[in-house]
Amino acid sequence: MSQLLADDPTVIARLFEHIDRQTTDLSEGVWREPVEHYISRQRFDAELRVMRRTLTPFCPSAALSETGSYVARTAALTPILAVRGNDGKVRAFRNACRHRGVQLVEGTGCKKALTCRYHAWTYGLDGQLRGVPHEYGFPGLDKGKTGLVPVHTVEKHGLVFVNQDMTSDAAEQGIELIPDYFDESWRLRATTELEFDFNWKIFVDGLLEGYHIRSTHADTFYPRQYDNINVCEYFGRNTRVSYPYRSIEKQRTRPAGERRATGALTQLNHLFPNVSVATFPTHMTMAVIEPLSVDRSRLITYFLANHDDEDALQKARDFVTEGTTEDREMGVAIQKGLASRANDVFIFGLFEGGSRHFHRNLASAIEQLD
Ligand code: FES
Ligand SMILES: [Fe+2]
Repeated sequence: MSQLLADDPTVIARLFEHIDRQTTDLSEGVWREPVEHYISRQRFDAELRVMRRTLTPFCPSAALSETGSYVARTAALTPILAVRGNDGKVRAFRNACRHRGVQLVEGTGCKKALTCRYHAWTYGLDGQLRGVPHEYGFPGLDKGKTGLVPVHTVEKHGLVFVNQDMTSDAAEQGIELIPDYFDESWRLRATTELEFDFNWKIFVDGLLEGYHIRSTHADTFYPRQYDNINVCEYFGRNTRVSYPYRSIEKQRTRPAGERRATGALTQLNHLFPNVSVATFPTHMTMAVIEPLSVDRSRLITYFLANHDDEDALQKARDFVTEGTTEDREMGVAIQKGLASRANDVFIFGLFEGGSRHFHRNLASAIEQLD
């Protein structure tokens, strides 16, 4: 467990206090984020550079459960593939053949070797170039130096992290502060992809506060959850927001030390800059908010469960999807509002501390770019 994050009984005690007093965690101050940061192409490019030099979760370990399992997608617009090798180690590479650059694999699957579709150059799961048909046509080719181009990869906490433009080591990036989310009992049950017409940070902002539960999610989340009652914790550049369900009340009669978060609250972990790991009563998700352009994004969601109750899982997924549809409608509405030029800044109040932490860290990471 991360030392910076409270255990379940402590979080639940804090939530009960808030419920009883009708209060919520407050941030240290109001944050004013320039609206230009959601519009500017230059700023967008800087954000991509930050993502590429950050050790970012790429997929859950459970997506690469076997030798030869691979996941290919873009990460900050760079095509990357991650594959589990014969030695059990996950490695990630830039997803392009070293001959004439064809993208090697797409989506997910499982292979014994990676063979290019164009002229059949073949790479081992460790990225080494193993086979070149009619090799005599390439005099001077050093196969040992023509393997797939690796990107720095770390598998930890049940997640596979990649760092494309390595500038500092894992320890410096605070990866130790992240808790162990998934042990071996968690399996990947589904993966979904959705595209939407708004800036990626609008999506992140929406994850990080419970101030909109009542007005945006009146018929979905609000009947089951409290409005504007959250515990907000920071660990490194990351944030964990706890959203209590009304069913948390059942835990009042339990001895304080035996209270458990599972089923009583959703914990939304924002892993800087564009990933979330969230807990639900029947499953967990890891979601990547991939920026496609300044006003378009893709959401890749991995659903994991540690049980086989398919019905419960489907019901829970449908429920969450309904609620997040409402969030996406708000996202589109914010993006449309940007064109009004009504605002020079967005105001994040004391209930929206997660966004304050996010924008402050993003600004400081951009400042540190060369
Ligand atoms: S481009 Fe891959 S083998 Fe030619
Ligand atoms: Fe929401």
